[in-house]
Amino acid sequence: MTHADRTRHDAYHRAHRAPPDAVDGTGAVDAAVPAASPLPTLAELEAAAALVYAEMPPTPQYRWPLLEARCGCELWVKHENHTPAGAFKVRGGIVYLDALARETPRVPGIVSATRGNHGQSLGLAARRHGIPAAIVVPHGNSREKNAAMRALGVELIETGHDFQAASEAAAELARDRGWHRVPSFHRLLVAGVGTWALELLRAVPALDVAYVPIGLGSGLCGMLAAREALGHRCAVVGVVSAGAPAYARSLAAGELVTHDVTTTLADGMACRTPNPEALALMRGRVDRVVEVTDAEVAAAMRALFTDTHNVAEGAGAAALAALLGEREAMRGRRAAVVLSGGNVDADVYARVLAG
Ligand SMILES: Cc1ncc(COP(=O)(O)O)c(C=O)c1O
Repeated sequence: MTHADRTRHDAYHRAHRAPPDAVDGTGAVDAAVPAASPLPTLAELEAAAALVYAEMPPTPQYRWPLLEARCGCELWVKHENHTPAGAFKVRGGIVYLDALARETPRVPGIVSATRGNHGQSLGLAARRHGIPAAIVVPHGNSREKNAAMRALGVELIETGHDFQAASEAAAELARDRGWHRVPSFHRLLVAGVGTWALELLRAVPALDVAYVPIGLGSGLCGMLAAREALGHRCAVVGVVSAGAPAYARSLAAGELVTHDVTTTLADGMACRTPNPEALALMRGRVDRVVEVTDAEVAAAMRALFTDTHNVAEGAGAAALAALLGEREAMRGRRAAVVLSGGNVDADVYARVLAG
C-alpha cells in the first residue's frame, strides 16, 4: 500500500468502525447498522480498493466479438470470475475482516452463513488474519464451493434446508462460542464489493447501462455507490431470479416482501427474505429490476462459454441473461454485465452445456 493509500485507509477506518455484530442475512438488523445509512462514498470505495489491491489486482473488463454479435450492442464483460475466490464477493470479505481485526484484535473467531462465495471470501480473509472461521451452509449446498471453503481452512457446518435456516444456525453458533457473527449484508461489504463497479465505471466512462445480479444486494448497492460517487450517468438494472423474486416484489410493493425460492441454478441469488437496509439503499436508485428464469440463465452460461470460453455459475450469468432478454431495446447501446462468479459444480455445468 502506498502512503496515500494508507492515509485514505486510516481516514476510512476512523469513520467506519467494524460493528460488534450487525445483520444476520435474514433481514434482522441490530443497532450497529442505522436504518438509512447512506451509500459508501468515493473516499470509502477508494480506501476499500486499496485494501482489495493488497490481495488481488483489479479485474479486467473485456469486449468479446462473438458475444457482442449475439447481443447486438457494445458489451463489456466485467470478469469477477478472475478473483482469488472466483467471485466478486471476495472483495467484501477483505474489507470487512480488515476492519474487524483492527477493532477487535483478539476476536476468537468468526461465524457466518453462506451458499458459498461469501464463505470463501471470509475464509480467505480470515486465514490472512489468522482468525478461525466457521461457516454454516444448508444441506445440498454446492459440493465444490464447500470443498473450496474447507481448503481455505474453514470449519464447514452443514445444517438446515435453506440459507435462512443456515443463517439462524450461524447466529446460534456465534452466541454459543462467543465468536463474531459476520453478516451477509453490511456497509463494509458493500464498500468492498463496490470496488468492482468503481473499476468498471472508470474504465468505461460512456457506459449506457449496467446489469447486476441481486442476492442480498451488496453487489448492486456497490454499483449504485460507485455510480453516485463518480457522478456517472449509466442506468443500473438489477437482476433477480424468477425463482427468487423477493427483491423485485419488495421494490414494486414499496415494502419488504418475502417469497419462496425455487431456483436450482442461481444459488447465489436464492434470497427468500430481502435485507431491509439493502432495500432502502436500492429504492429510488435502481433504474429497474428484471427477472430471469433458470432456463434463461442456463442459456447465458452456454453463451458465455461458447463466445468467450469463460465458466459462469448461475448467478454469474444472470446479468447476461437479462441483457439477452432485452436485446432489441439495447441494440446499438453501450452495455456492461458482471460475470460475478464462476463457481459451478462440474456435474451441474455439464448438464447446462449439454443443454
Ligand atoms: C456469483 C454471485 N453473483 C451474485 C451474487 C449476489 O450478490 P449479492 O448477495 O451481493 O447481491 C452472489 C452472492 O453470493 C454470487 O455468489
